Amino acid sequence: MKDLSAYKNAFSVIETPFYFYDTELLQRTVDEVSRASAKYGIDVHYAVKANVEERLLQIISAAGIGADAVSGNEVSRAVECGFPKNKVVFAGVGKTDKEIRQSLGIEAFNVESLQELEVIDSIAGAEGVMADVSLRINPGVDAHTHKFITTGLEANKFGLVPEEFQAAADLLGRLKNVRFTGLHFHVGSQITDIQEVFSQECARANEIAGFFESQGLKMEHIDLGGGLGVDYLTPDQNPVPDFELWFRTLSENMPRREGVRLFAEPGRSLVAQCGSLITKVLYIKKRTSKTFAVVDAGMNNLVRPALYGAYHRIDNICSQAPAEVYDIVGPVCESSDVWGTDRPLASCGRGDLLAIRSAGAYGSVMSSSYNLRDKAPAYFSDDFNI
Ligand SMILES: Cc1ncc(COP(=O)(O)O)c(C=O)c1O
Repeated sequence: MKDLSAYKNAFSVIETPFYFYDTELLQRTVDEVSRASAKYGIDVHYAVKANVEERLLQIISAAGIGADAVSGNEVSRAVECGFPKNKVVFAGVGKTDKEIRQSLGIEAFNVESLQELEVIDSIAGAEGVMADVSLRINPGVDAHTHKFITTGLEANKFGLVPEEFQAAADLLGRLKNVRFTGLHFHVGSQITDIQEVFSQECARANEIAGFFESQGLKMEHIDLGGGLGVDYLTPDQNPVPDFELWFRTLSENMPRREGVRLFAEPGRSLVAQCGSLITKVLYIKKRTSKTFAVVDAGMNNLVRPALYGAYHRIDNICSQAPAEVYDIVGPVCESSDVWGTDRPLASCGRGDLLAIRSAGAYGSVMSSSYNLRDKAPAYFSDDFNI
């Protein structure tokens, strides 16, 4: 992984804003997730929603990792980029009939309602195939994270809640075109209380697995979802997240059942740190109380700060000058189009390039053309001779 300032000349001839992906760092991250998951006997499925760039998906699939999709198009993209269809799982509260039909043959539909289970059974029956299904459970575990990325509470729309378990077990006993393969949990994202949150998740998952076993339903896997947080404050100190601690916590807290594999679905933790959004300073606006640096990347390119108040570290890759304090703002006509307030940044002027760091996850995938602005294209470190 090279310091981004090494690319400053190469970047200066590229139209901004653009995403830059350090493929060497992604490879290191993939190697570490593979090492740690093998050590603790956990099968990894990459949550494709975090980033769908073909080049990144190819690096991840080449490591033998599976995919976790949340739309029919994500299932197709994963397969096109090298993930075997029988290693793709598919979650989502609103799967359409078309998405279900085109996804038959995947490793598991993570079913989110009783009605969806019946619909999958009827579509599989009409196509003359069996569909492998796993039940997505809403475990009632608080992820202690932002409310927009908490998913495992009864107030959230995801999964089946306890009062539906008996009916789900009965239905699985009756339906002829679905095969029950396991349970699926996911409590939220950007989780930093790793031991506390994931041990609670495992305790609930264990209890719930016990219920389904008591109904005579045999599981082949228990999927504990994603959620491992990354270091947005100091990405250079922690470029590779602590997969060892996460998998150890899952492994130590989830009692093993014979023949039942454990799955994990990291999204953010695989791809966040390898991506930066590179933007150019357009104008410096000095006021008595503050100085604005107006840049050419906006909330349409990376919406996390405007949507969740998310923090991204920002570096001036063109200057080593002493720091000054700026409000760094984008060009979109919304007051929430702000990258950071009161940020110390190496003194900058028009034309300097800034790197908005840790932007590889939930960045380009959530971009829009709001204000009729261009989407930011992607560049990859292995295309530069540096
Ligand atoms: C079902 C499911 N699995 C995995 C993930 C990945 O989560 P993360 O990117 O926090 O690892 C998500 C993201 O919200 C999800 O909805």
